[in-house]
Formats: sequence, C-alpha cells, structure tokens
Amino acid sequence: MDDRQFGIFKDLGFDDVTSETMTNDYWKARAAEALALTTQDREVYGCLDHTKGEGLTIYDVEGTEYLDMTGGVAVRAFGVRYKPQLEFESKINDVIRELPGMDFDAIPQTLLAEKLASIVPGDQKRRVVFTTSGGRAVEGCMKSAMDLSGKHRFVAFRPAFHGRTGYALSLTASNSKHKTGFPQGVDVVRVFYPYCYRCPYGQEEESCNLECVEALRQALEVEGNDIAATVMEPICGEGGIIVPPSKAVQGMYKVTKEFGGYFMSDEVQAGMGRTGKWFAIENHGVVPDYISMAKALGGGYPLGASIGPAPMFTGPSRHSETFSAEPRMSLISLWVLKHIEDGGFLRKNAEHGAHLLKRLKELVEKHEVAGDARGIGFMAGIEFVKDKKSKARAPKIRDQIVKHLVAKERLWILGAGPNAIRFTPSYVITTEQIDDAIDRLDRAIKAVTA
Ligand SMILES: Cc1ncc(COP(=O)(O)O)c(C=O)c1O
Repeated sequence: MDDRQFGIFKDLGFDDVTSETMTNDYWKARAAEALALTTQDREVYGCLDHTKGEGLTIYDVEGTEYLDMTGGVAVRAFGVRYKPQLEFESKINDVIRELPGMDFDAIPQTLLAEKLASIVPGDQKRRVVFTTSGGRAVEGCMKSAMDLSGKHRFVAFRPAFHGRTGYALSLTASNSKHKTGFPQGVDVVRVFYPYCYRCPYGQEEESCNLECVEALRQALEVEGNDIAATVMEPICGEGGIIVPPSKAVQGMYKVTKEFGGYFMSDEVQAGMGRTGKWFAIENHGVVPDYISMAKALGGGYPLGASIGPAPMFTGPSRHSETFSAEPRMSLISLWVLKHIEDGGFLRKNAEHGAHLLKRLKELVEKHEVAGDARGIGFMAGIEFVKDKKSKARAPKIRDQIVKHLVAKERLWILGAGPNAIRFTPSYVITTEQIDDAIDRLDRAIKAVTA
C-alpha cells in the first residue's frame, strides 16, 4: 500500500492504517475481533492488499506476492486489474447506480437477460431473474419451480453446495458445519452424487449399470415423488471437484422427467465459460430447465441470475430483490460476456484446462498420496489419499499441502471437499503460469510427504 492509499484511509478518519500497521498478524487480529466469521483458516492465509496486484498476481499487506489459483473463488474471469475491463469501467463511471432492477425497467438489465437467454442451451422461451449472490440465484430457480409446479420437494445430492441461506442451504450437503442446527427450508430427497473414484455402489465407471441413477428412482418411489425439481451441480465444486460421468447426469435428468420434475443446473461456480462451454451442463449433453449462475457473471461485482422457463412466475411480485441487475453491474456483465466471446476464451479455457489436467495427472502418477485428478477446463482438482490402494481420504495431508503452498511456495490456493485441492484460476492464465503452479504443488507434496 502506498501513501495515496494511506491518505484515503486518513480522509475517512482512520489514522491507524499506516505503514507501521501493515502486518498480517495485526490485521488478522483486528478482523477476528470485528468479523463474525471467516470460511478459511486465518493461520493459513495472510490479509490481502486490496490496492495491489495484476492478472494472477496478488499480494498480502506485508507485500508478499502470490500466484492466485482461486480466481477469487471462481469470481474473477480476467484476473486482477484487467486493463480492457478497467477501460470499459471508466467509460461507464457516470452511469446511474441501483435503479431498482425488479421494480422498474431499464435497458441494461433487459439486454443482459436477452443475452443470457441466447447463450443457455436449448431453444425454449426463457425468463431471467437477477440477484446479488449465487445462493439467491439458486433460490430464484427454486421459487420459480415451486411456483410453476405447485410442488415443494426437491432432489439434491451428497456432496453438494448450493449456498448458505434459506432454501439454498436446504440443498447443500458438503460439510455439517454449514447445516447443523439450521432447519430445512424445503423437503429434500438426498441421493449420492455420481462420484466414480469413490462409487458408493462399489462399481467401475466403464462397467456400471448406473446404480446411482437407479438409487434416485428408488428414493422417489419410497420417499415421495412429488418433486418440483432436481438440483445438480454439473461438476461438484465445493464438495471436492467431482466430475460426474455424462451418462449419470443424463440418467438423473431422465428419471427427474419421468416423475414430472424440472431439472436445474447450478452453475454458480462451474458456469460462465469456465469449462470451455458457456455452461458446464453442456459437457453432459443435457438441456436443463433452470440454470443458476453468479461469480464470474459479474466481472468481480455481486451479480447472479436465475434463468428458467417462461413465464417463470405465475404473476407479478411473486419474487424480487432490490439490488438486482444494478445498471452498472449489468453493463459490466455484458462486457464480460462479449469479451469472453471476442477473446476466444471458451476455446482457451478448454485448451488450457486440458493442459492443467494433464499436469495434475502427472502428479497422480508421481505421488502415492495423490489419488485422483479430475476436471474440465478451469474447474479442476486433485484428491489426496493415504495411499492409492486403500484410497483412504487424507484431509491432514491436504491441509498441510495447502498450508505449505501458501506459506512457502506463495501459491494462493483453496481446498475443496474433505481432501482435495481445487484450481479455479482466472481465464487469463498462461501455460507458463499453469506449469509454474504445478511445479510449486509438486514441491509442496514432496516437502509434506518427505
Ligand atoms: C455451486 C454453487 N452454488 C451456490 C453457491 C453460493 O454462492 P454465494 O456464496 O454467492 O451465495 C456457490 C458458492 O460457492 C456454489 O459453488
């Protein structure tokens, strides 16, 4: 942070944001006293410097430089301080903000809704509801499915992450810390996510009879089949970067349809071009009725969207959110979508993602504790085990590797599920940066298992 930045804090009345207080420990201690909680371990991560960084390079307040593999948890499509985006943002500085998007019409939100409807798979007539978070994008779809079907029961998976609020939390099942003590908002029929590395039915992907799909059919037969929708992540993100086989996703879709439910793809993390297709569900050849999206959609600003079959709601005022599709954010989102197209990022993400997966698979060949590597595009991960034969989960080894990566290798990286590490970098990553990140991970695995 420089004198100009300290000056901003001084103008705001804070004399204590100075070069003397620029230590991670100092600001982490203050954060711990002020903020109710954090989802990540403060022992592992420093306090980020919000004034510094470019591309995939970010800094903590002590000036330590990191290579960022999280993309701000899949938010930053183009990294930090992306010049073309900054230029566009400066052009629209005079745009009026927060014209309440669901109360009154304005052009940006209409164009964005039309654009989203044009890129989602399928050719049925769609409508869009905008939100300011991923969880509420999920809930917009859920409320619509309940409104249109008159039913209130959902199918969701284990593991699954769909958000931490209200109805979305009812679908989430990736860590008891998220759920214990909070009541279900809606009834959920829960089935195993198709997770071939650890098939809960003891099958192999190549020869299975889709026992996971059959389990859904059985669950609906015995638990209640009045489902509004099945909600599925096309790649399970938070739960451990699990890529389901397309035949299983197609099977879940088919059974859902047999029972008269809508099928919803939660693309909050995997969507917006991350996998090399606009929406990750396209990798499975399924056309969902609903898609929830957020994160990269807003180009770094809080914007989400629920898209579903027209009319989506049975009447006006059935749903609303004050800050939805704020005009400036809508324009930035339109810019992000156009830039993904103009810059050929769908192709680039597919190609670079394939390279990333190839390199992760090399680590699986090389290290006994690296059990499996999976991914499509920039939704990639590696799972850690005690040994390859037992496949026993190794959460401690994973945690030590993450800690080592951040502290020693300066790789800003996140876990996923109990024992995986995820890679959700910004789309501007280069082959050299991918190789560099893999080398750092290779060294970290060696150091931790030595
Ligand atoms: C698939 C999925 N759905 C929903 C959410 C919730 O998004 P938010 O934290 O913006 O509410 C997330 C967040 O990681 C997610 O990965």
